[in-house]
Amino acid sequence: PRVAVVVVAAGSGTRLGAGEHKAFVGLGRHTILRHALDGLFAAHETAQVVVVAPAGREGEAETDLFEAAAAAGASRDLVSVVTGGATRQESVAAGLDALWPGIEIVLVHDAARALTPGVVFDRVVSAIDRTNWGIVPVVPVVDTIKRLEGDRITGVVDRSQLAAAQTPQGFARASLEAAYRVADREYTDDAALMADAGHQIGVVDGEALAFKITTAADLERARALVTESPV
Ligand code: CTP
Ligand code: MG
Repeated sequence: PRVAVVVVAAGSGTRLGAGEHKAFVGLGRHTILRHALDGLFAAHETAQVVVVAPAGREGEAETDLFEAAAAAGASRDLVSVVTGGATRQESVAAGLDALWPGIEIVLVHDAARALTPGVVFDRVVSAIDRTNWGIVPVVPVVDTIKRLEGDRITGVVDRSQLAAAQTPQGFARASLEAAYRVADREYTDDAALMADAGHQIGVVDGEALAFKITTAADLERARALVTESPV
């Protein structure tokens, strides 16, 4: 394949507070990680898939990965598990180290966005092919956003100029690897790291279902959604 997906799943899930690495928390009949994998295997294009797992839990990640691949009719030869790092950025870097020579486009995806539909992966890849830019799926900001100085409102930010970034975020493999090599601070997402390295980043429509499971309330919402459509 020419496309790879790096699924970062090595976080501890501090804010979720489930007493468990977030990727292995149950959501319906499966783990959060397994749901995320089912979403990406529903994408149109065959991809190399690298799951970045917490140290010591690589075997469980591999079980989810093999089962998701089998359920989607994808080959086991396309998938692998590597060990993550202390930060998301280190985990992505570990995933990049596992890419095969022929890979040209890399999508970096949060396992915590467990219900992301396959169509978002297709949208990101198509937009990269069309533009040669890095591509980020975004959704509109629904709240009215205030600018603050201490506890005083000093302005309103024009909402039409804002968007909330999701994953999968996709980039040319060579550019992403080069940007990771020179990054000298922590970035909140890959698009910010790539923008700092001088790359053009465009957007495509994200999906409400691609929300990140961060808090207990997010997990409740995800559980309600998978109960409605039992997957
Ligand atoms: N991630 C990772 N390695 C890390 C930290 C985060 O692979 N060292 C991954 C998480 O597994 C998650 C994604 O990055 O899929 C987004 O991170 P976040 O939602 O912040 O997850 P956690 O870091 O696990 O949660 P928290 O910040 O609440 O501890
Ligand atoms: Mg985190």
